[in-house]
Amino acid sequence: MVTYDQIFENNKKWVAEMNPRDSDFFEKLAREQTPDYLYIGCSDSRVPANEIMGLEPGNVFVHRNVANLVNNTDLNVMAVINFAVKHLDVKHIIVCGHYNCGGVKAAMIPKDMGILNPWLRTIRDVYRMHAAELDAITDEQQRYNRLVELNVKEQATNVIKTANVQKCYQQKGYPIVHGWVFDLHSGILIDLDINFKAILKDIQKIYDLTGIASDYSEDGED
Ligand code: CO
Repeated sequence: MVTYDQIFENNKKWVAEMNPRDSDFFEKLAREQTPDYLYIGCSDSRVPANEIMGLEPGNVFVHRNVANLVNNTDLNVMAVINFAVKHLDVKHIIVCGHYNCGGVKAAMIPKDMGILNPWLRTIRDVYRMHAAELDAITDEQQRYNRLVELNVKEQATNVIKTANVQKCYQQKGYPIVHGWVFDLHSGILIDLDINFKAILKDIQKIYDLTGIASDYSEDGED
């Protein structure tokens, strides 16, 4: 186990390593952040965003919670998306899940989990939406892996449902939303290649928040 004091020793070593590489490193860091990426991932200690992406401080804006959920009533994640899109002008938003996710595993067990119930409910809803596909998978580990992937896709879709993302994309052509899974066994990041444009188009019938529909009805009087 790393002791509490060791962490501060590690920090000093890290500062000493960073300074010779770039003498302005901390000066630049203190001035501003201009990350191109927003990463929404699981709080799991085995999935550290910067390390797995090979990115230095300043390059990725990070939000993590149990099982990388994007709930529309979660003020925390909604504030993160708002800030990242409107103020940081990020070009990509990534929802990254991981195999062997404890949150997803817990959601697969029909049991009262106390305060976790409303949180896990979102994942149970993902299972229900894809029950036919999931129940057809006989191998439990494979079903679990597939639910991890489907959860990423649904949470990425939830990002696309936000007004901030839709309006910015309409005006500037970004951000693009991606779904990834991190494989703990290999350390490999897998791009699920979700089709951002197709999902956006598909959901617009009822989730369009760009204002185009209301503009259209006003124009309709002409
Ligand atoms: Co997890």
